Amino acid sequence: MSNRMPREEGLDHSLSLMREGYLFIANRRHSFQSDVFETRILGKKAICMGGMEAAALFYDNDKFIRKGAAPNRVVQTLFGKKGVQTLDGQEHMHRKEMFMALMSTEGMKSLFNIATEQWEAAIHKWEGQQTVVLYEEVKELMCRIACEWAGVPLEEEEVKRRTKDLSAMFESPAAIGPAHWMGRWARNRTEAWIEELINEVRNGSLQPPEHTALHTFSWHRDLNEELLDVKTAAVEVINILRPIVAIAIFINFTALAVHQFPEKTKKLINGDEAYVQMFVQEVRRYYPFFPFVTAKVKQDFVWKDFQFKKGTLTLLDLYGTNHDPKIWNHPEMFSPERFEYWDGSPFAFIPQGGGDYFLGHRCAGEWVTVELLKVSLHYLVKEMDYELPKQDLSYSLVSVPSIPHSKIVLEHVKSKEV
Ligand code: HEM
Repeated sequence: MSNRMPREEGLDHSLSLMREGYLFIANRRHSFQSDVFETRILGKKAICMGGMEAAALFYDNDKFIRKGAAPNRVVQTLFGKKGVQTLDGQEHMHRKEMFMALMSTEGMKSLFNIATEQWEAAIHKWEGQQTVVLYEEVKELMCRIACEWAGVPLEEEEVKRRTKDLSAMFESPAAIGPAHWMGRWARNRTEAWIEELINEVRNGSLQPPEHTALHTFSWHRDLNEELLDVKTAAVEVINILRPIVAIAIFINFTALAVHQFPEKTKKLINGDEAYVQMFVQEVRRYYPFFPFVTAKVKQDFVWKDFQFKKGTLTLLDLYGTNHDPKIWNHPEMFSPERFEYWDGSPFAFIPQGGGDYFLGHRCAGEWVTVELLKVSLHYLVKEMDYELPKQDLSYSLVSVPSIPHSKIVLEHVKSKEV
């Protein structure tokens, strides 16, 4: 026996999804007073859900699969074909291990060293500029860090072009029309670039350091002991480069938090390493990034008396879960202190997905993200002085991805006097 899931009446709600953005699922969870409801998106029945229990269900591999879940326009821009995001079962776990092998203590140390050096160079450059548009500059900075860490050679004259293409992929997935096509062309160009490098690695004319993504993925063998086809290997190297550039969005929000919450910033200046970590976590909880993730029901099952039918598209509310009043006290307050006694549940705090890194689809780059945000926060607060001229620092909860409208303009950037 099963109950009827609360259902949104009407033929299609894709337009409302575009109009309400990050709040689409949360608005309906609130009005239905239910963490699960049914709607129609892109002409098809879809289940939306959010909250801790729903997240635990979503990451149960016996209940949900990823094959065919992501809309084609997202695969064509953000993910790339045959990437780890679209795999299930043993094949997924084997591919995921390849990613997680990069996330070792040594890997994080090397990332820290590269990031520190690149931040020093960036501040030096910004000192000579009238104004700095932080979002644009930091994307370039992240592109340099990403390529160096991944073992991908990057000539100085390529930096702007490659940054633009890598950014177009994550700036375009929800777009329609020209912006979407920019994303697709950017992906095609980037895949061609990385495919050429993988061919060079395999024929011995390029030797990236061991343990880098370019080296590891070029020589990775699948479950049949075969090398990945060149296109898939390139898609996976881009799955390292592109999201590192995307951290620029969180760095922009970090700079915004430093400005918006001066009393917390004071604690950063006087506080310890633990407070830096809590501040970064709160930035990732508080500000919008990915609104939701998608999967499909693997086979019919009943949960809390609700029927889930095989093949139904299911959306898990990431933003809404990070702002769920059942999980977080005063979720609309920016409060790094909330992480002091946080229990670390893998299904409550899910800006980059939830569950287990190795068994499920939780973001492979979460440690990279936290590390790069900590380094960036250090430089923003402790290593540079700057002023923020009058500008529009507001951000939208509708457009995805959201960034502060002014992209954060800085003036009079100077290294702090020692
Ligand atoms: C910029 C901040 C980032 C955000 C907000 C973010 C968010 C996410 C989300 C929501 C997912 C999907 C989880 C799911 O499907 O259940 C994901 C997956 C993934 N992310 Fe990230 N990510 C970020 C940074 C990174 C970085 C820096 C890397 C690599 C260095 C990375 C690599 C990946 C990979 C490879 C996957 C696919 C994992 C899988 O399917 O098993 N991400 N990320």
